[in-house]
Amino acid sequence: MGHNAIDMLGITKRFPGVLANDHIDLSVRDNEVHALLGENGAGKSTLMSILFGSYDADEGLIKIRGKEVSIKDPNAATALGIGMVHQHFKLVHNYTVTENIILGIESTNRFGLLDLKTAEKRVAELSERYGLKVNPRDRIEDISVGMQQRVEILKTLYRNADILILDEPSAVLTPQEIDELMDIILRLKAEGKTIILITHKLKEIKAVAERCTVLRRGKYIGTVDVQDVSEQQLAEMMVGRAVKFEIDKQPANPGAVVLKIDNILVKNSRGSIGVKNLSLDVRSGEIVGIAGVDGNGQTELIYAITGLTPIESGSIFVKNLDVTKMSVKQRIEAGIGHIPEDRHRHGLVLDFSVAENAVLKNFDKYPYSSRWGVLDFPRIFSHAGELIEQYDIRAGEGPMMKARNMSGGNQQKVIIAREIDLSPDLLVVAQPTRGLDVGAIEYIRKRIVAERDKGRAVLLISFELDEIMNLCDRIAIISHGEIAGILREGEADEHQIGFMMAGARQKEGEGA
Ligand SMILES: Nc1ncnc2c1ncn2[C@@H]1O[C@H](COP(=O)(O)OP(=O)(O)OP(=O)(O)O)[C@@H](O)[C@H]1O
Ligand SMILES: [Mg+2]
Repeated sequence: MGHNAIDMLGITKRFPGVLANDHIDLSVRDNEVHALLGENGAGKSTLMSILFGSYDADEGLIKIRGKEVSIKDPNAATALGIGMVHQHFKLVHNYTVTENIILGIESTNRFGLLDLKTAEKRVAELSERYGLKVNPRDRIEDISVGMQQRVEILKTLYRNADILILDEPSAVLTPQEIDELMDIILRLKAEGKTIILITHKLKEIKAVAERCTVLRRGKYIGTVDVQDVSEQQLAEMMVGRAVKFEIDKQPANPGAVVLKIDNILVKNSRGSIGVKNLSLDVRSGEIVGIAGVDGNGQTELIYAITGLTPIESGSIFVKNLDVTKMSVKQRIEAGIGHIPEDRHRHGLVLDFSVAENAVLKNFDKYPYSSRWGVLDFPRIFSHAGELIEQYDIRAGEGPMMKARNMSGGNQQKVIIAREIDLSPDLLVVAQPTRGLDVGAIEYIRKRIVAERDKGRAVLLISFELDEIMNLCDRIAIISHGEIAGILREGEADEHQIGFMMAGARQKEGEGA
C-alpha cells in the first residue's frame, strides 16, 4: 500500500484561554471518506483550518502523501490538491456560478479577455461528471443553499483538489438535500477523491464514512472503523458519557391559548404568496410543531409572528393582545421569544461579546440597567457567566469572548440560552439543534420540554422529522403555504406526515 493521503502529527493550536488542538494526530488513507467527530468546540474546524493553511499550528507537522509539507496559506493548500468547503460559505451573491468558481484564478484568452466561455464549459463538465446538476450561468442569489454548497464543492474540483474537506456540510441542508449530498460524497470517492467529513449526524457517518476520528476538548480520543461501532458508541466516545437520543416527556397539559393566528396571508421576499389562509393556535403548556419541506412557507410564518415582515391580511394575537401591527421590539415586550433560523442574520452580533449578546434584548431594563439608564456591567458579566455554566457554552475567554471567535455550535447555544432565559410566554423556535452535537441536542430538547412544563407555549419549526416527532404534542403540516392538517402526538406516523408534506390533505374530521 502507498502512503496515507494525510498525516497530521502532534498538532497543537492555542487561542487565548483555550487549547483548541492539543497534540492531535489524524491519519487519512488515500481515497477514504474519513469522518471527524467531536463536541461543539472540540477543535474540528481549527484542525481543518490548519490543514487548509488558514491557521498556523503552534506545534506539530503535516505530511501529504508521505512527504512533510509546510502549508502557510490556502494557496499552498490548493497547490497541494487540498480544497475546503467552509461551515459558512463565502460566495458573492450577485455573481454567477462560474464567476464565483473562477474568482481569483481567472484566465484570459489570447486577446486578453476573460475567458468565461471556456470556464463555463469546464464547470458544466465537472458538474456532469460528479452528478452535481449545477447550471454554470445561474446567479448565486437565485439558487438554493444546497446548490450553493455544490458550487463550493465545484470550486475545489475546478482547482483540481483531490483531498476535500467538508466542514459540517449537512448542517444547512434539508433532509432531501442531505440524501443527495451523501450520494455526491460517494460519487467523489468513486472518482478517486479523499474526503474528510465533519458532521454531528451519526447516521451520515454510518452511511458514507469508512473510518472516524473522535476529538474531545481539543484532544485526540481515537480512530475507529465505522462498521465496528454503533451510533450509541460513537456518541459515547465523543461526549464521554451515555447520550439519550429520545427525550422522555409527560403528556402535555395545555392551558389557555397564547398564540392565535387568524387567517393570515404573507408574501415572500420575491413578492409572491408565501403563506395563505393560515390559522393556528398554540396553547400554554404545549409544543406545536410545524413540519414541512423547506420553502413551503415556514420562513414567512416565522417572520410574520416575530414581526420581521408585515402581513397582507389576517391577524395575530399573543395572549389576546393584537400584535399584528407591532414592531419586533414591541412583540418581544408582548412576550415573544425567537430562536431564529439564520443565527448570523437575526441571532447574534458577531462583533459583540457573549455577555453583550446575552442581554441583546433586555440590556436597557432592570437589572442590567439602572433607572437612570446606566448599564450595570458586573451584573451583565455575571449573568453571562451563569448562562455559560448552565448551557455548557465553550467560550475560552469567558463572557468577554467575541461571538465571532466561538465555534458554530457554541454561537447557537448563546442564542438558545438568551431566549430561554428571557422566559417568554411564546417561544418561536426554528431549527434549534442545527449544528449542535448530540450531547447539546439532548440538553436543549430537555430545556424546551421544561419550558413547556412551566406553562410556556412553544412553536417549533424544524426540517427534521425526528425532532418534531420527539418533541411535539401536536404537529401541523405545512405545504404550499397552507396547513395541510394537524395531528396529535401518537396519531402521527412518519409515513403519513411525509405524505402530507408532499401535498396530500388530511380528510375532513380527522386529526386534532
Ligand atoms: N479565532 C479564534 N479565536 C479564539 N478562539 C478560537 C478561535 N477559533 C476557534 N477558537 C476556539 O477554539 C476552540 C475550538 O473551536 P472550533 O471552531 O475548532 O470547534 P469545532 O469542533 O469546529 O466546534 P463546532 O462543532 O461548534 O463547529 C473553541 O473553544 C473556540 O472557541
Ligand atoms: Mg466547527
